[in-house]
Amino acid sequence: MRPSYALLNNPQLTVGIMPEPISTNDGFLESGPSMTIKDECFLVPGPVKMSQKTLESMSHPVITARGNEYRDIIAELNGLLRVAFNLSKTSFKRGEESFRGDDGYSVIVVSGSGTAAMEMVIANRFSKNDQILVPTNGKFGERVAKITNVFSNAKELKFGWGKSFDLNELENELKSGNYDGLAFCHNETSTGITQNAAEIGDLAKKYNVALIIDGITSVGGLPVHPSKWGAEAVVVGAQKCTAGPSGLAAIAINDSFTHAVKNKQEKGDMVPTYYLNFLSALNKASDDQTPWTPAINLTIGWVSSLRELNEEGLENRWIRCEKLSNGVQRLFTDLGFALFADAKQRSTTATAIVYPEGIDDKWRTRLAEIYKTHVIGGQDHMKGKMFRVGSMGTTTYDEMIEGCKRMIACFSDFGLKLPSLNVESYFK
Ligand SMILES: Cc1ncc(COP(=O)(O)O)c(C=O)c1O
Repeated sequence: MRPSYALLNNPQLTVGIMPEPISTNDGFLESGPSMTIKDECFLVPGPVKMSQKTLESMSHPVITARGNEYRDIIAELNGLLRVAFNLSKTSFKRGEESFRGDDGYSVIVVSGSGTAAMEMVIANRFSKNDQILVPTNGKFGERVAKITNVFSNAKELKFGWGKSFDLNELENELKSGNYDGLAFCHNETSTGITQNAAEIGDLAKKYNVALIIDGITSVGGLPVHPSKWGAEAVVVGAQKCTAGPSGLAAIAINDSFTHAVKNKQEKGDMVPTYYLNFLSALNKASDDQTPWTPAINLTIGWVSSLRELNEEGLENRWIRCEKLSNGVQRLFTDLGFALFADAKQRSTTATAIVYPEGIDDKWRTRLAEIYKTHVIGGQDHMKGKMFRVGSMGTTTYDEMIEGCKRMIACFSDFGLKLPSLNVESYFK
């Protein structure tokens, strides 16, 4: 008997109940779902699941933002953020300037989501008369262009959602000498494509423009090399690859960034900011503080999740995310699905998969309600046309394998005839 929706919507009553598929594939059971349905598979490309330890760490008695106890926390957070950003190691101790390294980069914690941190970078670094080149291939790159246009001037080069940037076109623009900056979204979560940041960085160096990177779903999940690429600023969001709480972000900036901001300030050429003023934040960071009351308990949670990243090892995490995404991409390709992003540059933290003819987000609703499995849909004009699977944070092979089996089972419920495949074998 199929359990009723009312029962299934009540998590207390769903323990151990497996839904009956509407139709099954031949051989489906070979790779059928196996976990009890109460185990949620949360495969969204951010916010991602937080570990029990991280959740519990945030249940911390209230402390003030200015005492030594909290300064210890900020000092450790800054040191750990440097690990996630792939910067030179520093102490994690209060009073030892853990935010600043010998590679010329500093990290700043921002109480606000990734968008706030991008706004902080752009508003402080560029002025009304600056021209910034912003190549885009998805929603978040487009957001970089929008933020830039609020404070400065963006020339957006649209390459089409999920399409690689044409670097010749980028170079032709930069050759004009009209630009002060080049800003882009490194890992375009909306379309599942990762940009070739090393080559883009080379162009920024060659034409001497400030390189600004939205690394919100790349930092901590796939290779990011701020120093090698010559990035003036890179942004990360806590709730993505570092598996921290939503509502926090951080920026990594180099000395050229700071120098440029100070220069602009001296010349009276800064766009007005107050809460997101970079120099106020930098000034307080040297004292293991933030200028305003930070999201204290969230930062405690972020320390916990970053410790987990540090324990796993940054490169090990990159590799795990790559293996998880690789398995998903090969599996769905063999099942006959089309992947949305250009093949050469598919992301290892977010995979965008096109719905087959006749399927839309009703599939995702059923997947969540019946199979307790969560992926995310397409955005803007791709709404209802694709779904996106995250492979970031602390997602395990077991969870991904189980999630894929449930996705397949749910597609079967919609009458899709899929080949029978051994899901596990894609993740070995
Ligand atoms: C690449 C990228 N940039 C920016 C954002 C926006 O970040 P937030 O929602 O933390 O402001 C997201 C969110 O999904 C993202 O994936």
